[in-house]
Amino acid sequence: GKVAVLLGGSSAEREVSLTMSGPGVLAALREEGVDAHAFDPAERSLQELKTEGFARCFIALHGRGGEDGTVQGALECLGIPYTGSGVMASAIAMDKITTKRVWLSDQLPTPRWVSLRSDALTRERVITVPDELGLPVFVKPPHEGSSIGASKVTGYSQMQAAVELAARHDREVLCEEFIEGEELTCPVLGEGEAAFALPVVRIRAPEGDYDYQNKYFTDVVKYDCPSGLDPALEQEIQALVLRAYRLLGCRGWGRADLMLRKHDNKPFLLEMNTSPGMTSHSLVPMSAAAAGISYSKLCLWLLSQARL
Ligand code: DAL
Ligand code: MG
Repeated sequence: GKVAVLLGGSSAEREVSLTMSGPGVLAALREEGVDAHAFDPAERSLQELKTEGFARCFIALHGRGGEDGTVQGALECLGIPYTGSGVMASAIAMDKITTKRVWLSDQLPTPRWVSLRSDALTRERVITVPDELGLPVFVKPPHEGSSIGASKVTGYSQMQAAVELAARHDREVLCEEFIEGEELTCPVLGEGEAAFALPVVRIRAPEGDYDYQNKYFTDVVKYDCPSGLDPALEQEIQALVLRAYRLLGCRGWGRADLMLRKHDNKPFLLEMNTSPGMTSHSLVPMSAAAAGISYSKLCLWLLSQARL
């Protein structure tokens, strides 16, 4: 039957989905012989999926109103199977703070944090955050992706501006302890006991430069996959990521972002992306390729896992 590739949407990551992930997935599915069509839920009502006879959806949306369980819930109501996680896991993973709480409930390592309400920010409170977390501090809107509204604060004097920036994007602000070390990411495919981790990707960005611009529009960031990490450490990271994925109840696919602490090689989980980027710069396709899975076969496999 007809397949809708959901792209665009109305989040801050709309452009990433509309111009990169969505078209990439659409072309790949067509290449594999799937009768796939682009569908932008910001411009059309999801109801039209039903009236136009779409049998399944590939969700290539990022961020709020796409990766957060809302579209998933609408598709549940319409009875149209979709790729990736269901309503609950999508909603939890979209919220970095709730995600951390779930992980801590099973003692999975995640950096310490302080959360602030965007409508109740006081200079007195903001300035004490580094006393609790040390410096640097990572300041983020907890429901955003692609580093939008995020900053690394290295001095007390930068705290207020960073918090105000994040607060413009979200009702809460996440201030997170900075883990000195390497940035890693690790995709997972499948569900429950059958889920498995793909190879770890090591991200090498010039200090402080792994931001929106460099994630999509330049090539200053270098990626290693295979990671070159000690095989035992790579396995330890994959096992951790798998636990993190299962604990959130993810299915289909996901990608955990982590920091590997320099002084003791301890991995810390930062977040789980339930609708990861599928651009030409993206990490899941890179890791899948290292495991011998082409971009188009990955898309086809994800589609085959679509369900209600
Ligand atoms: N939020 C972007 C799309 C990613 O994690 O790949
Ligand atoms: Mg993310």
